[in-house]
Amino acid sequence: MAKKKMTILDFKKYKEEGRKFAYVTAYDYTTASIVNDSECEIILVGDSLAMVMLGYNTTVGVTLDDMIHHIRPVVKGAPNTFIVGDMPFGSYNVSPEQAIASANRILMETNCDCVKLEGGVDMAPTIERMVKAGIPVMGHIGLTPQTSTSLGGFKVQGGTPESAKKLIEDALAIEKAGAFSIVVECVPNAVGKALKEALKIPVLGIGAGPDVDCQVLVTQDLLAMYGDFKPKFVKHFAKIREEMVKGLNQFHAETLSGEFPSPEYCFNKEVEIPKLY
Ligand code: KIV
Repeated sequence: MAKKKMTILDFKKYKEEGRKFAYVTAYDYTTASIVNDSECEIILVGDSLAMVMLGYNTTVGVTLDDMIHHIRPVVKGAPNTFIVGDMPFGSYNVSPEQAIASANRILMETNCDCVKLEGGVDMAPTIERMVKAGIPVMGHIGLTPQTSTSLGGFKVQGGTPESAKKLIEDALAIEKAGAFSIVVECVPNAVGKALKEALKIPVLGIGAGPDVDCQVLVTQDLLAMYGDFKPKFVKHFAKIREEMVKGLNQFHAETLSGEFPSPEYCFNKEVEIPKLY
């Protein structure tokens, strides 16, 4: 039986009931349809597609058009899964008006279920305006890849009492602004736990320890598809890259030996060929 699609109201309900859920990425139709067949409740079409799909070094070069191009097929491929469209760098940091216009494009041109954007206290007034304009917003704090240069690189955040306090202030401001959930990336377990306890909205943790409401991972990471790079918080739940290389090598070997294509893979109809050569 196909799984039932989660709704915005379920986020609050799951939190109240202490029910955990799982959140992964997809950037294309085929992967989205595979996630749709799984029990995972949420798909993020993240701007991490910059590295995973496009081979860029950071997320900063991805445009709003790029995001829309990737969100659309994911929505088509995963009708039973809640879909989050990531807002890329430069599409919401100019003004609340710019953020509303960009989010409107994402929602109207892709039909995804909400948008996600990075930022804490400073972004709260923008989130408030977006929510008032009818846009469902998921926040994202902690390690925020779009501004990782300002954070001094891809580092664990909230490792001191002062920085942990700042993260809690960021999270409370975003909740107050009306976000319905919040991603927290790369923080010590104690900070993940404190945020879960401090907030009424679900805390969706990636590298935030076990005491959050939901675990998030990049699909290509958790299936070991993405080369040798493995952040500490990633567990490999399957070895898909190895399987793919094995399959490709088998195809190569059978092509060279002539074993492929055998009769069952051929159109074996007799045709009289006119003599033209
Ligand atoms: O773009 C992305 O994949 C993300 C996750 C790291 C949460 O924002």
